Amino acid sequence: MKGIILAAGAGSRLYPASLPISKILLPVYDKPMIYYPITTLLLAGIKDILIITSPRDIENFKNVLGDGSEIGVKFSYALQKVPKGIAESFLIAEDFIEDKPVALILGDNIFHGFGFSSMLKEVSTRKQGATIFGYQVQDPERFGVVEFDKNNKAVSLEEKPLNPKSNYAVTGLYFYDNNVVEYAKTLKPSARGELEITDLNKIYLEKNNLKVEILGRGFAWLDTGTFESLLQAANFVQSMEINTGMKIAAIEEVSCRMGNISPDKLLEISKKYKQNGYGTYLEKVAKTI
Ligand code: DAU
Repeated sequence: MKGIILAAGAGSRLYPASLPISKILLPVYDKPMIYYPITTLLLAGIKDILIITSPRDIENFKNVLGDGSEIGVKFSYALQKVPKGIAESFLIAEDFIEDKPVALILGDNIFHGFGFSSMLKEVSTRKQGATIFGYQVQDPERFGVVEFDKNNKAVSLEEKPLNPKSNYAVTGLYFYDNNVVEYAKTLKPSARGELEITDLNKIYLEKNNLKVEILGRGFAWLDTGTFESLLQAANFVQSMEINTGMKIAAIEEVSCRMGNISPDKLLEISKKYKQNGYGTYLEKVAKTI
């Protein structure tokens, strides 16, 4: 399976903080934001990842992440010159996707919770159709919203509805079979001029080929769209890391645990960060894994 991280937005809601650099490279506590969506894809067993970014930021992303070989995966890069919608990802990534199924994650979506790895592992084995993830929120009108019938089957999807039919937001993580590229080609821009991911998901829903997994209570899906929510996300990560002594989304550790690099390689990487707790942590993991 292939993976795509969409990280091309202007991030203007976080100006001036994101004026010099993409919002997706801003730190969330102790690591760049993009480490979190990378971790989600790694946990799904994905090793071939395309990062879609803007012309302004592409070199920064390359400098931070390189070609991925250091952590045993492959990162490649593509441009979205103008943010014309999330579903445009599949048009940009057509050659990259080839004949494979593909997962897309938005660069600003942070997921953390018990059982997530096994859920991702299972979802990534599905051969056909699409899988999206619903999460209960207080302000569904800010998101794509999924409505369920009595049997918990998804019956409708709406993008930022004025009168949401449920409190379940559709999160920014999507798994698709290889039909997604052809379906994306049939989309027309919405009233706000974007190729909407919700319209793409509706195609799967109408074909009775959409699964919605619920991320339950106790699961964290963190928003990083405003100064307040970005700080709250950082505080969440800090408090989890201090309480458990384990890091969230240390991509080198995750890749090692997924078998992409050896503990010896992890130990070698840890030396790059030996002046701080991140390096000490990687070193400890490498010696105990
Ligand atoms: O976060 C989940 C929500 O993401 C979903 O519930 C919605 O259905 C989906 O439309 C999307 O809503 P947002 O309002 O959060 O989308 P936004 O335009 O803010 O874009 C999300 C991220 O993707 C953001 O970091 C910018 C980036 N992006 C967005 C567009 C439209 C791009 O890189 N390129 C684009 O063309």
